[in-house]
Amino acid sequence: MFAKTLWFAVALPFLSSVLCSSGEEWWQHGVFYQVYPRSFRDVNNDGNGDLAGVIEKLDHFKDAGVDGVWLSPIMQSPQIDAGYDISDYYKIEDMYGHIDDLKELIKKAHEIGIKIILDFVPNHTSNLHKWFQESENGNEEYKDYYVWADAKEDGSPPNNWISVFRGSAWQWSDKRKQYYLHHFVKEQPDLNYRNPKVREDMKKILVYYMDIGVDGFRVDAIPYLVEDKELRDEPRSYNPNVSEEDNDYLKHIYTNNQPETYEVIYDWRKLVDDYTANHGGDARILMTEAYADLEHTMPYYGTPDGSQKGSHFTFNFFFITNFNKNISTAHDISRIVYMWKNALPSIYTSNWVLGNHDNRRIPTRLGVENIDGFNMLVQLLPGIAVTYNGEEFGQEDGEVTYEQGKDPSARNRSIFEATSRDFERTPFQWDDTINAGFNEGAEPWLPVSEKYKKTNLASQLDEKVLSHYQIYKALTRKRKEDPTRIGSTDIWAISDDVIVLKRSHGNKHTVLAFKLGWHDKNEEETVYVPSVGAKGATVALTNVGSSYKIGSVINPQNFKLKPHESLVLDIVD
Ligand code: NOJ
Repeated sequence: MFAKTLWFAVALPFLSSVLCSSGEEWWQHGVFYQVYPRSFRDVNNDGNGDLAGVIEKLDHFKDAGVDGVWLSPIMQSPQIDAGYDISDYYKIEDMYGHIDDLKELIKKAHEIGIKIILDFVPNHTSNLHKWFQESENGNEEYKDYYVWADAKEDGSPPNNWISVFRGSAWQWSDKRKQYYLHHFVKEQPDLNYRNPKVREDMKKILVYYMDIGVDGFRVDAIPYLVEDKELRDEPRSYNPNVSEEDNDYLKHIYTNNQPETYEVIYDWRKLVDDYTANHGGDARILMTEAYADLEHTMPYYGTPDGSQKGSHFTFNFFFITNFNKNISTAHDISRIVYMWKNALPSIYTSNWVLGNHDNRRIPTRLGVENIDGFNMLVQLLPGIAVTYNGEEFGQEDGEVTYEQGKDPSARNRSIFEATSRDFERTPFQWDDTINAGFNEGAEPWLPVSEKYKKTNLASQLDEKVLSHYQIYKALTRKRKEDPTRIGSTDIWAISDDVIVLKRSHGNKHTVLAFKLGWHDKNEEETVYVPSVGAKGATVALTNVGSSYKIGSVINPQNFKLKPHESLVLDIVD
């Protein structure tokens, strides 16, 4: 939904990259698991998930094979935008608990080898934040904490900038008699990063949480940090599919990915690296959120020669923004992989993302029957794998009516389905008891999906029965143990419908063969694994419902796949 991508035409040279060597750091091959705290587990039964719930479920992360848990925002907030509107960075939101709960979570997570990453929202605060209130009142100290500008002579906003959530990005303040900028809702005023005091204050927040033991930060909405100094109008995009109110109506050459924005990230990287150097322990990391084209995405990692480092990784959203059920083909999968790998300087670490709290869940978006194939793809590609909570057992989107919805980006009833992010945020389906085990029966903040009786984690815990979750676990284990994890990567579209991914280390290969089932739905297709000599391949893993038996040996030069079938093969040449 935040897609702002340019589709680059790229040549497809042979891809072969050795990604990791002995000097690999903890995060470089990690599985990062996004917890959406309000919907995860509600221990005090008030309808909202809480930190006690995350602590209670620590064993799940361990069992799933996760390395780092990223918590969507837990700092104090009026929740106009689900916590992405922070009113006090130094306090934990009441419904989630207390700072002591966070400390306990970190301590217990560390005891079992799991890192805790916090969502850090630096672009904007809540309008209820003290800084904004002081700024609006004209208090000298905070006057320039936000982006304020005078009205035009006719009283209209200073320029034509449009909010990501539609409509003018400017809001008039009667108190201050000026407009303030908000890239999201009007309750999320944009901080002014041209003010050094703002930069210092934001760094203090990072240090405060690192002192508590936090292992890193997911940095929110990074492209919007700094805007054009002269507040110039943005040109039209001439995108035929959008209205004048839509963010994509304009080309964001003055509000997104400005050169000064990258400098802020490089500065924060230095801060976390210095912190690690001075305090010891494993690297504290930054992961940045930027829906941008490749050209503007890569510099968030740093300069190509590494002389300036940025975030440890910036999310690779191309499997979300450039990939659609039924329309996309296996060629698009290989194109996205090559495009990313060709653009990413070799000193940086790849990452793969298929879901998060801003986009429809994988089974809903790409087909329930394809969840195993896509989990295999994300886990077997080189570098970092990101999982949105629920993906590990195939949770689908929930059912939410307009009246039940909470997302401010869903403007009105007629476009609720298309614009609301509530569907992917419904409570986690732990089991088939009341409210899917989310809590003990209090009305959850968003309804529990009706699908929970059929799809829930508890029903997939039996290790002897092949399930989405058991497949996910086998994959996270394999990516830790298998030598091909640090090997080279090749990917081929065998047809419009079949993708073959090969990871190789020495004479060992781990291969994924996955038939999307979107382009020749009823056909069995003959498939082969290119450039291996071996006559036999051991089936290491299959999707749920496959006719292949795990442990059986097949001919990698000639085997059949049915629609939605996916196999992981071990091959020794
Ligand atoms: C990106 C977050 O993922 C999204 O949920 C939020 O609405 C915006 N940033 C604004 O903070």
